[in-house]
Amino acid sequence: MAKSSEESPSRRTFMTAVIGLITALVAVALAIPILGEILSPLFKQRDIVWEELGKQSDLEKIEPLSPKFIPVYFKVREGWTVNTLPRQVIAVKDVDGSLHFFSNQCTHLGCPLHWIVARQKFMCPCHGGMFNILGKVVGGPPPRPLFEWVHKIENGTVFIQNKFLNNPKDRGI
Ligand code: FES
Repeated sequence: MAKSSEESPSRRTFMTAVIGLITALVAVALAIPILGEILSPLFKQRDIVWEELGKQSDLEKIEPLSPKFIPVYFKVREGWTVNTLPRQVIAVKDVDGSLHFFSNQCTHLGCPLHWIVARQKFMCPCHGGMFNILGKVVGGPPPRPLFEWVHKIENGTVFIQNKFLNNPKDRGI
């Protein structure tokens, strides 16, 4: 007759499986927060940042209705690195003296626009989109006016945010 303290092979196998399962569950429970911390930057939206565009006094010297293309370099954290994203700002002074800061990307499929002095229009080289000096569509397939960059003026300096006014996606560009 077998001793009562001896376990049958099937009971031993079952206990081993239960212990293995518990160990695996504990390991997963410990790993989830660590993995989340490591991977979370991959799923974050692009940072919203401000970059200096120039002195307000200089920008106010722009000729009315004559666009000035100004490069801006946004430094944004993406994942684990900080990247520099070059963008173009089209600064336009209206006849009333107000300043506008448009994106140079066509609102059809994003091609870069050129200002054609002779026609007094922004022209898109891709599909013939046309915008007037204040960003309104005046020809071609673009579905909406030019996007305007969010901007602010602090202590006489103009700053641009990597975000458009009325951007349906509330995220950096
Ligand atoms: S991308 Fe400008 S008209 Fe198509």
